[in-house]
Amino acid sequence: MNWPLFINGEWKKAERYVELRSPFSGELITEVAQAGIHETDEAIAAAEVAAETMARMPAHERAAILNRAAQILEQRSEELVRILALEAAKPVKTARAEIARTIQTYKFAAMESSRIHGETVPLDAAPGGEGRIAFTMRKPVGVVVAITPFNFPFNLVAHKVGPAIAAGNTVVLKPASQTPLSALILGGIFKEAGLPAGALNIIPGPGSIIGERLVSDPRVKAITFTGSPAVGIAMKSRAGLKRVCLELGSNSALVIDDTIDITQELIERCVAGAFSFSGQVCISIQRIYVHEHKYDEFLAKFKDQTEKLVIGDPLDSETDLSALISGTEVKRMEEWVESAVAGGARVITGGKAINAAIYPPTILADVDKTEAVSCMEVFGPIVVVSPFQTLDQAIREVNDSRFGLQAGIYTNDIHAAMRAAEELEVGGVMINDFPTFRVDNMPYGGVKESGFGREGIKYAIEELTELKLISIKLKP
Ligand code: SIN
Repeated sequence: MNWPLFINGEWKKAERYVELRSPFSGELITEVAQAGIHETDEAIAAAEVAAETMARMPAHERAAILNRAAQILEQRSEELVRILALEAAKPVKTARAEIARTIQTYKFAAMESSRIHGETVPLDAAPGGEGRIAFTMRKPVGVVVAITPFNFPFNLVAHKVGPAIAAGNTVVLKPASQTPLSALILGGIFKEAGLPAGALNIIPGPGSIIGERLVSDPRVKAITFTGSPAVGIAMKSRAGLKRVCLELGSNSALVIDDTIDITQELIERCVAGAFSFSGQVCISIQRIYVHEHKYDEFLAKFKDQTEKLVIGDPLDSETDLSALISGTEVKRMEEWVESAVAGGARVITGGKAINAAIYPPTILADVDKTEAVSCMEVFGPIVVVSPFQTLDQAIREVNDSRFGLQAGIYTNDIHAAMRAAEELEVGGVMINDFPTFRVDNMPYGGVKESGFGREGIKYAIEELTELKLISIKLKP
């Protein structure tokens, strides 16, 4: 079957279709309709009309729709796992975890839709404010554009669509070109769940054409984007007065100090944090700083555990790692590792592409911090391990980055933990855990080039609503 666009509650053919191929096998999965300017305008117009209906819809109805959508996702979860494995090459065991999180994200959205409230404001604290009762309300902004990445094509869509609908907005969703099916399938699911026509429109298409239109159209009131810093920064500069929430990349770091035993549990956590979905995760561990007293022991155990990972077909239930999203990414991994090695780095394991689609889990030591594998976002299965002597030095190294999404520190020293909490320049500090930790109700987002604004349903709703003040002057 060819996949059409989803606009105004209907499936729509387009003039142009592109092939969607499995990143692992290269096999044709399907052909997917591509929106052009005309379809983009249609989607925005539909969302604008539906915005009135959604703004009037009571919270309990919005909650019921989101809960029904979660229920349908649950019933169809194995089908969704297969879509993820086919189009993103996400191994089924990782894909199952994403679908479980997606269901929970929509359930959180349903819960939060009934908790959107304001507060009373004591205007009489200011001279001239006496004799009034004042309170705030939160109103939906209207049309929200969601632009989503390939790496969590169900759950990162849920983190945008869920809070937007919970708040009474409408959505035009442009999914990643590599993973359109995970998004398009939601059209049918939300229709079945009772979402009014036009409240969710799904239009895959070329970013250079439709992305530009979505970002600059004055009917759009907010943009929520997850992707690369270059695209996010360009988007913000064209967005004018629209609200913009950007979740961009990072080169997340983990510190392990000398109060910590290098246990099997710690090693397994580091392997999962560095190599889950081949490191194609914004908070994947990219840099590990280990106290010099524990460095050799850590490196040896980390290498052994990493070499146990099973590489193969994403549809095989034993597979831990599969293809990267494209051959271009494999080439980039090769170039970045070659450059690091030329600059003096040691390859502890991995370091050579397995084939044109798969790059193996790779550990590097003695890496110069100006190398791309250290200072840029790798977004692949490469991790750099370095020793440190003092906590000051470790904190300086973590902060010496253009990014600041999340960081982790393993320590048994409360003072070290509290200093890390205070001084690490990131959106989230994970004490005694990896930086890759995320559950779906927590505030999630970064500082510096990692973006701004926060996801995590309650926090995203704040980004996607307007605060309105009501002041009632009492009669004397
Ligand atoms: C991301 O890559 O930003 C999402 C990570 C997650 O949700 O676990």
